[in-house]
Amino acid sequence: MQELFNKVFADLNYNIEPKIIKSNKEADFQCDECFKLAKEYHKAPFMIAEEVVEKIKQEPNFEDYFKEVAVAKPGFINIVVSDKYICENLKELMDKEILGATKEDKTIVVDYGGPNVAKPLHVGHLRAAVIGQAINNILKFKGNKTIGDVHLGDIGTQMGQVIYGILTDFPDTKPEDIEIDLDYLNVTYPKMSALCKEDEEVKAKCLQITKELQDGDPTYKILWQKIWDLSVSDIKRIYDYLNVHFDLWYGESHAYKQFDEMMPFLENQGVVIEDDGAKIIDVKEEGDKVELPPCMIQKRDGAYLYATSDLGTIWQRVKDFKPDEIIYVVDGRQSMYFVQVFRAANKGNIYHGKLEHHGFGTVNGADNKPFKTRSGGALKLEDLIKQVKEEFINLREENKNMDEEDIDKIVNAIIKFADLQNNLERNYIFDIKKFSGVSGKTGPYILYTYLRINKIISETTGKLSNTIYSETDRALRLKMLEVSDVLDLASKERRPHYIADYLYDLSVTANNFYQNNKMSGLTGVQKEDFEVILQFNNYIIKTLLNLLGIHIPKVM
Ligand code: ARG
Repeated sequence: MQELFNKVFADLNYNIEPKIIKSNKEADFQCDECFKLAKEYHKAPFMIAEEVVEKIKQEPNFEDYFKEVAVAKPGFINIVVSDKYICENLKELMDKEILGATKEDKTIVVDYGGPNVAKPLHVGHLRAAVIGQAINNILKFKGNKTIGDVHLGDIGTQMGQVIYGILTDFPDTKPEDIEIDLDYLNVTYPKMSALCKEDEEVKAKCLQITKELQDGDPTYKILWQKIWDLSVSDIKRIYDYLNVHFDLWYGESHAYKQFDEMMPFLENQGVVIEDDGAKIIDVKEEGDKVELPPCMIQKRDGAYLYATSDLGTIWQRVKDFKPDEIIYVVDGRQSMYFVQVFRAANKGNIYHGKLEHHGFGTVNGADNKPFKTRSGGALKLEDLIKQVKEEFINLREENKNMDEEDIDKIVNAIIKFADLQNNLERNYIFDIKKFSGVSGKTGPYILYTYLRINKIISETTGKLSNTIYSETDRALRLKMLEVSDVLDLASKERRPHYIADYLYDLSVTANNFYQNNKMSGLTGVQKEDFEVILQFNNYIIKTLLNLLGIHIPKVM
């Protein structure tokens, strides 16, 4: 259809590739380009539209494509496609790999997660995990080789604080003999962090320990490893629950191992400036709207910073994978920081590939402020999951007897769909009640649609005929034809919400179909056609849900 329109506009000597877009008026598609051409060719848009329509109607295969192409005032072209066109395209789509999306073949590192070792995961980590994993899945689905890296914050001051806490609690035990567990860790980190806020001396000591740890102190390293093992296994447990999986469990500590190589390299590039004993890279550029502070890579006392570790990480990724792109799915409040790091990597010739930060908004409570517990702390991710699970179980008496595995799948659907239906940079209010309902734009609604349809279809190997039986049937077939473009768009912009939006629209359309077309009592070609359509509908739903990290329960 696009090619046909291209040809007609060209035949009429209009120099444009006319965009055909979806229409939400009475037509299926529309073309609004005549307005653009009107200025250039000094003609009324309506006149141009009429020429195009007249010409396209003379095309020998007009009827293969269209039921109707008409001009609408003041110069739109409305397009209603033929049933044959829909059916032929649908059949073609059913035979295509990856739902007709275009294939890609890049190596892409996806940096998402970013939890800090020794601290429990909190609500703020939810979005990085859920959005990052979805982006990773989508890119992989398109054929790219992706490498997911959790990028732990594992060598910052919190580690020095906990080590100091351990040393004071176990003054007489040799470090290798000290035994700590997760409960101990969960108490010690908040205790030490509070203490450092009150007591300058303790704070200074903890900073010193952190610095010595970063420099490789063997005693601290032993305790560090114990903290790391405990904390990371706990972090993994929660990521596992959310089906969030990383290829690499690297952290900032791995980046530190690159500094011996990277720092002299950077100095050699002539971009490192001494500033009052500290080392900085100037990252300002002409045309910047705000003045960008320099990127500091080493403090006066020799300590490295957050930015140095990100540069070291890029250094390592380049060595290990030669990636075409590195993508960061990190809180939007770090966006200026990433501009600094990306420019430093570029100016320092560490990496000239594509670096992208996809900054997400916050998860808010009912007051529309970042989620807090009643006592004012950040809500633990585990507690949020528990709350959702309770809410779901208490929703209906039957839910209490459900299979645990199924419940967990639904909990995942509730949480993830709630998150992924938002354009990622938006903040959103986490309203458990709303997100758990089986009606409305929720995960359960999509699951319910799938399961309800699944019940009435049997395995079929039938082929689609070229008949369309009703308006709701036609609407569903047209909706399914959108899937390839949705996948391409979500992947190109790295925005999973396009897929969530589409899943919702598709489900609404499929439910309309279900309600208005009786399956029972049907025989012959029509039965076969409906089975093929619904089966494909469910195949799309399942495939897209999987990309969002949502799996379908057996029953609901
Ligand atoms: N640990 C960091 C924080 O808590 C987030 C890390 C994000 N990823 C990165 N490559 N900087 O803020």
